[in-house]
Order: sequence, then structure tokens, then C-alpha cells
Amino acid sequence: METIKRTKIRELLKAAPGVDVLAKGWVRTKRGNKNVAFIALNDGSTINNIQIVVDKTQIEESVLAKIGTGACIGVTGALVESVGSGQAVEIQAKGIEIFGECDPMRYPLQKKDTSFEYLRTVAHMRVRTNTFGAVLRIRNQMAYAIHEYFHNKGFVYLNTPIITASDCEGAGQMFQVTTMDLKNIPLNKKGEVDFSRDFFGRQTSLTVSGQLEGELGATALGEIYTFGPTFRAENSNTPRHLAEFWMIEPEMAFYDIQDNMDLAEDFIKHLVRYALNNCMEDIKFLNDRYDDTLIERLQSVIGTEFVRLPYTEGIRILEEAIANGKQFEYPVSWGVDLQSEHERYLVETHFKKPVILTDYPMEIKAFYMKQNEDGKTVRAMDVLFPKIGEIIGGSEREASLEKLEKRIDELGMSRKNLEWYIDTRRYGSCPHSGFGLGFERLLLFVTGMANIRDVIPFPRTPKNAEY
Ligand code: 4AD
Ligand code: MG
Repeated sequence: METIKRTKIRELLKAAPGVDVLAKGWVRTKRGNKNVAFIALNDGSTINNIQIVVDKTQIEESVLAKIGTGACIGVTGALVESVGSGQAVEIQAKGIEIFGECDPMRYPLQKKDTSFEYLRTVAHMRVRTNTFGAVLRIRNQMAYAIHEYFHNKGFVYLNTPIITASDCEGAGQMFQVTTMDLKNIPLNKKGEVDFSRDFFGRQTSLTVSGQLEGELGATALGEIYTFGPTFRAENSNTPRHLAEFWMIEPEMAFYDIQDNMDLAEDFIKHLVRYALNNCMEDIKFLNDRYDDTLIERLQSVIGTEFVRLPYTEGIRILEEAIANGKQFEYPVSWGVDLQSEHERYLVETHFKKPVILTDYPMEIKAFYMKQNEDGKTVRAMDVLFPKIGEIIGGSEREASLEKLEKRIDELGMSRKNLEWYIDTRRYGSCPHSGFGLGFERLLLFVTGMANIRDVIPFPRTPKNAEY
């Protein structure tokens, strides 16, 4: 037989019958009878399998016997119209090559346990399941859509450092980076750790945000965005937190808080629309299997105007709800940081659509946010989504050198470490704004998955860093 080039299953399923083809992939199932076997083959290019029909007079029984769920094979044969329902075409096998057998007794992916909890324990293999294939293809499409969106708007993609000496969010949730011998840490005369003898000559950590460096970019290039890994050592085992997650942080010169909100709303709607237009097969699979309101939820977000509400108003609504008998686990009063139960009440119960909450108390927000005239609140904006809570956090930035320095001092932060950042306000300071979208929070929304560990290939959470 002449050699045929492999075609991906995604293409084969759309191809016209009547040609010989070569498909390669992993066996999902094999069934059949005395005369004929049916193999469902998947190569990751689509959620759909191609059906291989094996006439047992054509393929040796000994070859067929080695093919079970999980095995990797190549099949040459004729692409023909399918007689069965469910698919347009199938392959009538003429030859099968086995690349890798798979012992069905030891294969980690067994029909009997497909719970997400179990699959997390075999995360090196779970990518081969329909669900994770769908999630990871959607993740890929979303990453592309993000770059495309900003590229088309003339934003510059800026790579900010992963190793840093500053704590952008000021929450002290940083993973330290050191090459010091932990059994023999150098101390200075005061008995403190002598970081001057560490690799960088100072204390360093993994970044919690690329924003501060992003601001340097925006105040030179105009509009930038970052898209990179972000690390937070917060010990929270929730379905919405990862210790390593990806964040998209646009930062724009000459944007005020209104422009910032407009961009955030347009951006996120664009991404959801992109998913509906480009990932429908995978979304439909997730919708039909796990959550049949997913598609509806996605469509409703792109068709609705987000509510824009000051924090103070949000607190008033929550207090009113409590007065009317609503019970929350955490207390509500002006000044508290909202918990996800509060955010979800506003979004899911009260407004029934996404809410952008603005003008938070200064005390619960980071040092860089623009201070309002009231002296109590800052020009912050959190975008709150159904089922997720906070999906975006951002603000207009404090452009006044005097106010920024005062705030840094009040918070007991080191001005010395931030001189390079403060310089943006010394030399040609400008009004500017930005925000951060948590990539996995976006994916939670778009895929309808319930746990953030299930929308990243290899999750990092407290006590969990395998693979
Ligand atoms: O609200 P955050 O902490 O804001 C910042 O880091 C700003 N520097 C962003 C900016 O203005 N450039 O984080 C932004 C977003 C959150 O809204 C959330 O979606 C996500 O990042 N996020 C997390 N996602 C997963 N796991 C975690 N532990 C997360 N922490 C924040
Ligand atoms: Mg936040």
C-alpha cells in the first residue's frame, strides 16, 4: 500500500468519503461481535471519536486482541459513509499498527471511577478524558482570543518578571525564591537572615501580579497587557483559589475608571462570545453532561449590560437582605471585605446579572489605587460573576506622587524598594488604569466546571505539587 499521510480526526469527520486515509490516536472503546469490531478512536483534535470498523477476516485476531481502551494505534482504511447513526463517516480498516499497548487492568482511567476528585489524583492521565480534552481545548482557544483581542486594539504584550522583590498586592502571600542552603542560612550581626548573600543579593519571591511593572510599560507604550503565571501562597483550599494561576493584566495610560470598566466589560463579553462561536462542540458536551444551563448562562452574559454599583450601595443591599431574613456566614457592615457568598448574593439573587462593584474602602484595597475625594474610598472596580464571584479586580491608579508616597508610608511599606515604581509619578505622571482577569476564573465560567483545579492541567494547591 502506498504511504498515506496522517489526517487529524477533526478533519476526517468533515471529509468527503471515498478516499483511503490514515488516522492515529488513542482507543476510547472497543466493542463488537464474532465477525466485526468497532473501535472508537480519539486523537485530541476534537471531542468526537472516529469509528473504526474492523472486519475480522481483514485484520488478524492477534492484533485485535492487543487493542483495548487506552492503547495507541494507527489505522489505514477507506473513509466511508457511516451506516450507523451518530456519525457521518467511519473508517473501514485495512491495516492497523499498534504504537503502544495499554493494560486494561492497570490503566488509571477506569469506567468505574471518573469523579473529578479521583481524576485529580491521576492528573497526568486525566487529560485523556473527554471532559479534560474539552476543557483544555477551550483553554487554548481563550488564550488565543485574549492575545487577538489586545493585538487588534494595538496593546503591546509585555512580559513582566516572575521573580520579583516587591509585593504588589501587599498581602504578604509570596513564595520566597532563594538558593541559600536552608540548613545553613547566613545571618547578619543582628541575627537576621542575610539576604545580601542570597542569589540576587536581596530577598526575592515569585510574583503575585505583573501590575507594577505593567504600569512602567503603560506609562511609556500607552497600552499594554501581560499574560503570565502568578503565584499566591494563601492557604485557602477553596474551589476558586490556586497557588499558581494565570492572570491577564491590561494597563492603560489616559484611562479613567469609567474607561477601565468599559474595557473590562467589552473584553469579557468578547471572550464569552468567542467561546460560543469557536468552541461550541466542547461547550455543548460540557453543557449536556454536567450543567444544562451553561450555554444559557454564557448567552445571557453577552446580551446584558453589567450593573455598576458603588460598594457602599452594595453593603446597603446586603444589610437590607439580612434585615429581611437572609443569613450569611460572614457578617456585613461598611468596611468589611466582601466574601464570595455576598458577591454571589448581589449577582445571582439581587441583580441576576454581572455586577461591577466600585469605590471600595481604602483600608481593604492595595496601596496603588486612586483615592477618592471623600478620603475613605478608592477608585477600585471588581467584576463579580454568577457562580464565580470576583472574576476581575482592578482600579484607576493613584497618579499623585504625594498621595502615593503618603499611602505607602501609612501602610508601613518600604519606599526604598519601590523607588523605581514611584518614579512613574515623578517623571511625567499620567492618569492611568488597569485590571487583572484571573484566567482560570474565566475558564470556570466558560466551561461551567465547579472547581478551579479542573480548568488547569496541573493544579498547584496547598500540599499538592505533583507532576
Ligand atoms: O484582585 P487581584 O488580587 O488583583 C491584582 O492582582 C491586581 N494587581 C490586578 C490589576 O489591577 N492589574 O487579582 C486579580 C484577579 C482576581 O479577580 C481573580 O480573578 C484572580 O486574579 N485571582 C485568582 N485566581 C485564582 N487563584 C487565586 N488564588 C487568585 N487570586 C486572584
Ligand atoms: Mg481582588
